[in-house]
Amino acid sequence: MKRTGIIGAMEEEVAILKEKMEHVTVTRKADMEFYQGTLNGCEAVVVRSGIGKVNAGICVQILADVFQVDTIINTGVAGSLKTEINIGDIVLSTDTMYHDMDAREFGYPIGQVPRMDTLTFPADPEIRKKAARICKEVNPEIQVFEGRIVSGDQFVADKEQKNRIIENTQGWCTEMEGTAIGQAAYLNKIPYLVIRAISDKADDSAHVDYPTFEKQAIIHSVNLVEALLPLL
Ligand code: ADE
Repeated sequence: MKRTGIIGAMEEEVAILKEKMEHVTVTRKADMEFYQGTLNGCEAVVVRSGIGKVNAGICVQILADVFQVDTIINTGVAGSLKTEINIGDIVLSTDTMYHDMDAREFGYPIGQVPRMDTLTFPADPEIRKKAARICKEVNPEIQVFEGRIVSGDQFVADKEQKNRIIENTQGWCTEMEGTAIGQAAYLNKIPYLVIRAISDKADDSAHVDYPTFEKQAIIHSVNLVEALLPLL
């Protein structure tokens, strides 16, 4: 049976999944608790990585080395970068890219990690297609989009910063871990998908919207992850 690593940056993003798990054993490492067991009848390791790129990258490496996961799914919330992507909707990553990596001085485009052979980290297209199909069944009231998810160590809550990120990356939504997960998965050759539900518009309204809509957005992402597992 395939084993899936499921990462959420914050406890709120994984709490429901942890509650639904069976036959759980907990392993502590790097200040993270790895819940290994079954979820919806499938082998899974659910973990709160902590916020930001370094926490996310470390988390993937532990899932690879200690738990030998076959697939990695990142669940959580994000700020929308497109007018048609509304609060509550879901974005599935076609690929991920940093918006805060800048080595233009050496001729690299914004986003590219110097001396790496890729600008973006492609997510697994088969997993994405399955997720898009099942999302319409479990979350029929929302839209599901497939596009680029961008990350940086920044909570984006400013219109000008948002517009800069869109111009530099052509991203569809922005968050703080997905690309580090994509990069670590790429280096370890593990198929991955980032699933993000929109909690805000990453502009001047984000401070108000984020706390208001975070909970509902998380439920959409969690519903999808649970339904997706048996299809992997
Ligand atoms: N996660 C949810 N909303 C976000 C935003 N606006 N910026 C960064 N990460 C987020």
